Amino acid sequence: MKRILLLGKNGQVGVALQKVLPSYAALISQDRTTCDLTEPDQIRSTIRAAKPDLIINAAAYTAVDQAETDTITCTKVNAIAPAVIAEEARLLGALLIHYSTDYVFDGSKTGCYSEEDLPNPVNVYGRSKFEGDQAILAAGGIHIILRVAWVYSATGRNFAKTILRLAAERDDLKVVNDQWGSPTSADQIATVTAGIVSQYIASRQPASATVAPRSGIYNLAPSGVTSWYGFASELIAQANQQGMKLRVSSDRIAPIESRDYPTPARRPANSVLSTEKLQRSFDIAPPDWRDGVKTLVAEIAVRPS
Ligand SMILES: NC(=O)c1ccc[n+]([C@@H]2O[C@H](COP(=O)([O-])OP(=O)(O)OC[C@H]3O[C@@H](n4cnc5c(N)ncnc54)[C@H](OP(=O)(O)O)[C@@H]3O)[C@@H](O)[C@H]2O)c1
Repeated sequence: MKRILLLGKNGQVGVALQKVLPSYAALISQDRTTCDLTEPDQIRSTIRAAKPDLIINAAAYTAVDQAETDTITCTKVNAIAPAVIAEEARLLGALLIHYSTDYVFDGSKTGCYSEEDLPNPVNVYGRSKFEGDQAILAAGGIHIILRVAWVYSATGRNFAKTILRLAAERDDLKVVNDQWGSPTSADQIATVTAGIVSQYIASRQPASATVAPRSGIYNLAPSGVTSWYGFASELIAQANQQGMKLRVSSDRIAPIESRDYPTPARRPANSVLSTEKLQRSFDIAPPDWRDGVKTLVAEIAVRPS
């Protein structure tokens, strides 16, 4: 049986991956207490001890605003650690699956971003993630970088859970309506990752006719585009439909502009990713983004946290 080393098991994507990966391989899952990504020696010894066939790095420094002042830690986790992981993966001949972000772009493009578009990050987090991507490409091993955006899940901290909490506490909400993207569930990311894992493992069987996934960057997103305001409105509409107790009513959510909600880190206005390459390469039809919202609300309604 093949072995997968998962880094960042407690994150949104890490938790979702742990639900699906055991069907495909023996899973060795680590968190920061067992493999701290600010410690290159610990990363190397963890990988060398596990001797995995695949490494999935779901760990990252994701506190986008905090990163503006905590640049050193952010760079260690998002730029230096991926370089070390990629080098170790190459030495072992293991496939590295890593996650990148829409924040590598400045958001000024009209239309959706393809894998060919040139990054130009506008904040520290985006810059650190871009450097991590570059390091993986430069290491020259087998790699798949899945570029995702606007990730949410029933676990962890995210916009969707914050909106549902605020909607239960407040009578009015104001939400930014001039940043565009596709809200992506961690479960969708895990499903696509598992498909790639499965294809890779099949391709490694003796005399296999399955073609190995091609190294490179692949955008991963559901279909459809909305703003944070549209996302919040859909969350509240779904919550109402599913009988969640909220204080705010749908007509009390107000759209505002980014300049009326200043944050330490600048955000790109356009985070929309074209998924043509992923669809073509892996025969995947992305679900509508609202499907994931419906599932999330159902999960939270059953198991509030
Ligand atoms: N969240 C988004 O909207 C978004 C958007 C675009 C791209 N992405 C990318 O998608 C991937 C998964 O993101 P996510 O949303 O699942 O992130 P997340 O929920 O914030 O999880 C990140 C995980 O990384 C771990 N981590 C942080 N510093 C670490 C360190 N020094 N050593 C070891 N582990 C460390 C965290 O550990 P603790 O649990 O102990 O803090 C956490 O479990 C990341 O590559 C991220 O950059 C996310």
